[in-house]
Amino acid sequence: MNDSTILKRIRKDIANRKKLNLFRVTANFSEEGVIDLSTNSYLSLHKRKEVFRMAVELADNNLHGNLSSRLIGTYSPLYDILEHEIADWKQAESALVFNSGYSANTCIISAVASRETEIFSDRLNHASIIDGIKLSGAKMTRYAHCDADDLYKKLSTSTSKEKLIITDSVFSMDGDIAPIAEICDIAEKYGAMIMVDEAHAEGILGDNLCGAVEFLNLGERVDIVMGTLSKSIAGLGGYFSGSAMLRDCFVNSARSLIYSTALPHSILAWNIAAIRFIRRNTYIGRELAARSETLRRLIREIGFNTLNSATQIIPCVTGSETEALMLSRYLADCGIKAPAIRPPAVPQKTARIRFSVSHGLTENDIARVAFCLKGWKGQNGR
Ligand SMILES: Cc1ncc(COP(=O)(O)O)c(C=O)c1O
Repeated sequence: MNDSTILKRIRKDIANRKKLNLFRVTANFSEEGVIDLSTNSYLSLHKRKEVFRMAVELADNNLHGNLSSRLIGTYSPLYDILEHEIADWKQAESALVFNSGYSANTCIISAVASRETEIFSDRLNHASIIDGIKLSGAKMTRYAHCDADDLYKKLSTSTSKEKLIITDSVFSMDGDIAPIAEICDIAEKYGAMIMVDEAHAEGILGDNLCGAVEFLNLGERVDIVMGTLSKSIAGLGGYFSGSAMLRDCFVNSARSLIYSTALPHSILAWNIAAIRFIRRNTYIGRELAARSETLRRLIREIGFNTLNSATQIIPCVTGSETEALMLSRYLADCGIKAPAIRPPAVPQKTARIRFSVSHGLTENDIARVAFCLKGWKGQNGR
């Protein structure tokens, strides 16, 4: 291989990441006998045989539609069933399914925003939102995390013709909930559009486990609700729910929907089965909330900083990258899988362990995690 300037730069970058404890590897942990606090399958549906059986039956009865872009391929009724199921669950006029949450965010934002638009984005919004904003060519203004006053200051002094506010509802690394009601008040005052990413809230918040918009009763006030089918739903895909006019807009201009192959039957069927299961068994969301609350209380009692976590995502901030890695390795030795999260995924000096509580964890598992964290605190004294 010719040692080009590009390869030299990449080699140097990798060496530098290793030196700074910022080098990442793909996961190499087997599930056997492990207490897993790393999964985004919050409701543990990936282990539910009844969801699997429902999905198999749905897929078996609907082997229609080929693998091509949705705009040129033959029709799969499973797409219709899934989009109706999502719209009905979200109490929205319509829904549109994308191939992933990442793809939904990049497509939706670049379809609605233009160079005339100023996008106000929470400082801790997910990377797919930031990438969508970059792709749209809009001006990006970041406001302080969950800070409605800062948003107000920035929006009230903006001279841009078009304004769009985007926020995660539950933040993926902090587990706190955005002040969406205040954001709606500000948006309405200044004629801004609102988009909310419910990736970590669906299956978790609200009486029907629809997410924060339902939980806060704001359905009528949020223009674009976006979500993913890859976390609580344990499948694959992303979606929009909202007005039929916006759905038409995305079908006509969302590039990854137009220029990428649609999802296969097996995945669509899983997504439908999982949403139906959640809607019929909302008690699992309440049980998960109770388990999360117990672990959060125990972690706080031991003396760790869990920021403003109020959900199933519980950060345990160490500050330094080295300490986060050491704690993650210590927990691994105790049979607990909990990833160290380091910059740039989180702000500088806020490296942490990210615990994600899932429904499959038992009381004993939670007690064991607390016991091991206490042991670490005892040895490290901070
Ligand atoms: C807040 C948020 N939005 C969007 C996504 C992207 O979803 P997906 O994994 O389905 O691409 C993620 C995934 O981590 C996320 O955390």
